[in-house]
Amino acid sequence: MLTNVLSIATTDQTKPIRMVQISDCHLFEDPDARFLGMNTEDSFQSVIELIKKEQPLQRLTEQASTDNAVSLFIATGDIAQTPSPATYTRFLERMSTFDQPCVWLQGNHDLNHLLLETPNLQANMNLIELGDHWLIIMLNSSNDHEIEGRFSTEELNWLTAQLKAYPNRHIIVALHHNPMKIQSEWIDQCGLSNAYDFWAIIDQAPQVRAVVHGHVHQVFESTRGSVKIWSCPSTCIQFKPLCEKFTVDNLPSGYRWFDLHHNGQIDSGVSRIAQMPAGVDFDSLGY
Ligand SMILES: [Fe+2]
Repeated sequence: MLTNVLSIATTDQTKPIRMVQISDCHLFEDPDARFLGMNTEDSFQSVIELIKKEQPLQRLTEQASTDNAVSLFIATGDIAQTPSPATYTRFLERMSTFDQPCVWLQGNHDLNHLLLETPNLQANMNLIELGDHWLIIMLNSSNDHEIEGRFSTEELNWLTAQLKAYPNRHIIVALHHNPMKIQSEWIDQCGLSNAYDFWAIIDQAPQVRAVVHGHVHQVFESTRGSVKIWSCPSTCIQFKPLCEKFTVDNLPSGYRWFDLHHNGQIDSGVSRIAQMPAGVDFDSLGY
């Protein structure tokens, strides 16, 4: 498995580093197509505009303000609903309106070879050294055409090797599928099936501060020992928490931000657009 390292230098060691997570954009090859009545292209763009409005975006090296500037975007899978080179190119074009790099990982609706073949090599970086103290590890829990997540043995061995290689950095591990049950039966049936093996590795790595994921289209927050677990809202449809069966929520699309302090502390929060776009099919029984 390839190790692709992206190093992002920070000049001001006194401020925490800000990272922004987006997830589950479910973009179509046809930008006019709709997902449960929602145009996912438009909702994604609304979230981009929200980020531009809320987040300081000047490069850290040019930063003079007291706010933290975003230094990295991570996209935690299901970039596409209908994966194609055109879909992924459009995603990257929209993200390239930010100066900061955006790295992605595969969700169950994505196709791995299309992500890897994209001309934007930066998007496929899987180890991000953020400043002097942090490391983001991007993992692939998806297998083409399978809804449920499962790490390959190769992926788990690679994770173990990276944790050994970086004993002195605070680490965030990112993946698509939920590695912990969220008490929504229909989602928990298609979470990370070998979560036991994953946690056995994480439990041996005290420098891991958080595990962050997508897939669940809702906010889920938990802990395992000292490790924080955070999910991200989708940039399109939200799923209602604590439901036995598929249920669309009436919350608007959003994103998650993180402030990574040099002592390993993380502050995090979620922000959503003001209003749910019109036309969403709340009675849908699935997709
Ligand atoms: Fe999704």
